Amino acid sequence: MTVSLTFVDQIAHINLSRPKALNALSFQILSEFRDVLVQVEESEARALVITGEGDKAFCAGADIPELIGRPLMRELEGAQLGQEVFQALAQLKIPSVAVIHGYAFGGGLELALACTFRVATDHARMGLPEVKLGLIPGYGGTQRLPRLVGEGRALELVMSGRTVYAEEGERIGLVNKIDNEGSPLEIGMRFLQPMLKHSLCALYFAREAVQRGMQADITNGLRIERDLSTLAYRSDDASEGLQAFIDKRTPNFKDC
Ligand code: CAA
Repeated sequence: MTVSLTFVDQIAHINLSRPKALNALSFQILSEFRDVLVQVEESEARALVITGEGDKAFCAGADIPELIGRPLMRELEGAQLGQEVFQALAQLKIPSVAVIHGYAFGGGLELALACTFRVATDHARMGLPEVKLGLIPGYGGTQRLPRLVGEGRALELVMSGRTVYAEEGERIGLVNKIDNEGSPLEIGMRFLQPMLKHSLCALYFAREAVQRGMQADITNGLRIERDLSTLAYRSDDASEGLQAFIDKRTPNFKDC
């Protein structure tokens, strides 16, 4: 197995483990990743951390040797698989964070872009270098990067294929934070810690409101927010949270 899934406290941990190829996304890895995502979905985990094995790379992208000489139909299937797997990751009900502690190129950065959050160490080197290979990003990068950093920056990064270092990544909003303390798993867990005590329903509604609103005009975005905030208001967790405030105690959320 090249993708492992473990649980630490309430956090699921997926580790890509193919360090000799810088954790490149072979079709085998993608299929295993899809399977472990199902296990995460069925688990009691309240958050997900994704890391890559070894000191050098989070993930160096699609497996380049596998791309050589593939008939067009197989290639389309490959892009579809990558897009489907990363969309399943993006749609997980729990928050996810990619800890980028080395290279995150091509499909590797696209994997990180499909997470709710990204944390980098000073060693992070990120980019979508597909044009250097005569390709373009195929696992969601052309769609998720502009939504995160804006069209102008995304076009410049996709069309130059250049490398972004941690500090610039944080400045342009590609990564949420730089953190160098401890192992990648510890970094991811520390980032998610403040969210773990909240209602999973409130977290999910909040994320849906922001992300679905980003696809809509302001009128429809506000409608989405109104609908989701009404759903949140009607939840038992909202009753508990409001009452706990009045009672001056910590709320005991039940996740809906
Ligand atoms: N696929 C398969 N193997 C890869 C790989 C990849 N994407 N990236 C690196 N490797 C392998 C290398 O072939 C090498 O293997 P060997 O030791 O057997 O020769 C090993 O990993 C170590 O790599 P390097 O010796 O190149 O390490 P480096 O530190 O000198 O360079 C690097 C690191 C800058 C990341 C360089 O390896 C590199 O540029 N890799 C390719 C990155 C890339 O272009 N990614 C995009 C792929 S296309 C894509 O992802 C399409 C999409 O949208 C889905």
